[in-house]
Amino acid sequence: MPTSSLTASSIANIYDINLIYARQILNSIGQDGKIEDAKKFIYPRPKPFVKWAGGKRQLLKQFRDLGLYPPEEFDPITNMYYEPFVGGGAVFFDLLPKRAVLSDINKELVITYNVIKNNVEELITLLKKHVYDNSYYLKIRSQNVNNLSDLEIASRFIYLNRTGFNGLYRVNKKGEFNVPFGRYINPVICDEDNLRRVSAVLQNITITNQDYREAIKSAKAGDFIYLDPPYYPISPTSSFTAYTAEKFLEKEQIELRNLFIELNRGGCYVMLSNSDTTFIHSLYSGIEGVMINKINASRAINSKSSSRGKINELLIINYKI
Ligand SMILES: C[S@@+](CC[C@H](N)C(=O)[O-])C[C@H]1O[C@@H](n2cnc3c(N)ncnc32)[C@H](O)[C@@H]1O
Repeated sequence: MPTSSLTASSIANIYDINLIYARQILNSIGQDGKIEDAKKFIYPRPKPFVKWAGGKRQLLKQFRDLGLYPPEEFDPITNMYYEPFVGGGAVFFDLLPKRAVLSDINKELVITYNVIKNNVEELITLLKKHVYDNSYYLKIRSQNVNNLSDLEIASRFIYLNRTGFNGLYRVNKKGEFNVPFGRYINPVICDEDNLRRVSAVLQNITITNQDYREAIKSAKAGDFIYLDPPYYPISPTSSFTAYTAEKFLEKEQIELRNLFIELNRGGCYVMLSNSDTTFIHSLYSGIEGVMINKINASRAINSKSSSRGKINELLIINYKI
């Protein structure tokens, strides 16, 4: 008998991965395996293919270290993962569940996910033709997406995201993309290895362009839902709700809280991010079994560099840790 057998927590700690993923690796190598054997199941992993305002990539380690994510009892084999405000999908790409529904109201983003899923090689060919140049950028930006194929929309979307200012997605009232050219040294427009990895993990995943309420309609007890809406603004000037032409203000935040309560009653594991504001605290306080946690977050979406810096945000969960 070995004195100590390999555990999922030791794999998670050493390789800095989530516990669910670590459990899958442990199943593959067995409890008598060596910790070094885990390595070959871990690399290389896909990562978000777009820079996205409010992306959660830098916060995941904190979520894990605080024991807030993923929910211990969520079983990714029998149950479903839902991410209805998927954006860049940092949590999905960290969790890598086999069964998932991803959705976003941003039509071009969802077209891009589906083109990567279904037609990644042609997309790579098109992406390689783009050049990093101001007047070329403006020409691509001025294209009317209604005249483009899905493949061309995806190629334009990734190009503008990699070369536009700060990777922002911002549209005017007519829904036209209006982010200025970004100043980079040699931006990577086509990360072909990553795009192929993303394509591979999306194969059995549903990606829809719907309002979040529609997207999670079929959620059942035991499913895990991550809600990462546009944040309630910290101050009137810090408002950043321009992922689409639609707004996400008080009324929308209250509707989302009501849905959180419904999912909680229905036995789903729910994790929700939002700003650390009195309004959001008041919405989620006093709900039985719900815990409001502060997370340290530095944000770079405010264009005034003086107002960037360390601020908190909230991670609200309804499961035991
Ligand atoms: C904070 S971002 C999500 C960031 C994401 N977690 C990441 O890691 O990149 C919020 C997303 O919600 C989407 N969104 C806004 N209103 C929505 C709605 N009513 N239904 C679904 N998605 C919506 C936006 O397009 C945006 O991509």
